[in-house]
Amino acid sequence: MDIQQPLSLLGGLTPAQFMRRHWQKKPLLVRQAIPGFQAPVQRSDLFALAAQDGVESRLVQLVKDTWKLRHGPFSRRALPALQQPDWTLLVQGVDLHNDAVHALMQQFRFVPEARLDDLMISYASNGGGVGPHFDSYDVFLLQAHGRRRWRIGRQKDLALRDDIPLKVLAHFEPEEEFVLEPGDMLYLPPRYAHDGIAEGECMTYSIGFRAPARAELAQELLVRLAEDAADVDGNPVLYRDAGQEAVAQPAAIPTGLTDFAREALSKALAEPLVLERALGEYLTEPKASVWFEPGDTRVMLEGVRLDRKSRMMYDAHHVFINGESYRAAGRDATLMRHLADQRQLTPRELARASDDALELLSSWCEAGWAHAWLEQAD
Ligand code: SIN
Ligand code: CO
Repeated sequence: MDIQQPLSLLGGLTPAQFMRRHWQKKPLLVRQAIPGFQAPVQRSDLFALAAQDGVESRLVQLVKDTWKLRHGPFSRRALPALQQPDWTLLVQGVDLHNDAVHALMQQFRFVPEARLDDLMISYASNGGGVGPHFDSYDVFLLQAHGRRRWRIGRQKDLALRDDIPLKVLAHFEPEEEFVLEPGDMLYLPPRYAHDGIAEGECMTYSIGFRAPARAELAQELLVRLAEDAADVDGNPVLYRDAGQEAVAQPAAIPTGLTDFAREALSKALAEPLVLERALGEYLTEPKASVWFEPGDTRVMLEGVRLDRKSRMMYDAHHVFINGESYRAAGRDATLMRHLADQRQLTPRELARASDDALELLSSWCEAGWAHAWLEQAD
């Protein structure tokens, strides 16, 4: 993507300008971010997705001033009638199930893939919404169908109501208000308060991001580091204490053991590239609900494209795909990085692949992580 090219998606800003001026800093309202936007997912498609196991969905309903929250899957009969006001169905990860939605999400890849999370679609009946709240992550709210009134504010007082099962602000103080029509989009940085209320039936697409929490990241990486921590020649390195003196306070932990623990951790971290490998594997790990249909091993002379569910990234020494890492250098590394960035390789690009790279690509096709280019998407 040309990050210096003005985009109507960003109201005429270039991705570079948007990231400098707005990302994690201040909202941006874009009228007709996608002019003439035709929503790729209809109400009935969304309801069908919400009925599936392995698709995360929620139903939020305001009944006689009481907020209610239920988790899916929902059969059509479990959803309220369309004419009933004040309800919202939210379906997460629609990009994993629909190629057009996945393609739409790719327009936001001026933000690193490691930060992109998923595309959620909400369907609301007249008056529906999830209440005034703030999110911990950045979000682009793209109006897909019907109209929604957004009220937003910087909100200092982040106290939540404690009498309902939803995270709703106790004292919302909106500062601005907009009605979004299909194709309009609102970007909000983390913790910016917002409340969106459907004016008639409406659908909103939320392009959501993820940011690892420091403690959770440390935990994930330490587990992976521990798996990698090498014993010497297959034998565990045991703590030795030939110099240990007799103790009168047996419950006290020997300082030598604390030093041994510290050394164990610093040795594990000092292994070359171990942290980089663990991070890439963690970032590309598919979500628990994701599975791949095994594919065809025939090699893809007509080019190759990644499956929409595949997560592929790279660093200076590796390529990562779906939680696995490969050391890569030279021409093959260039090719694999190109595949990760573009999510496809043309026949001409593929012609430059080494036999090893072709073998790897064909094993990914077999696993369903990638497909021959011309094979029709389902
Ligand atoms: C919605 O689409 O109803 C909620 C999206 C949000 O407020 O983050
Ligand atoms: Co929100």
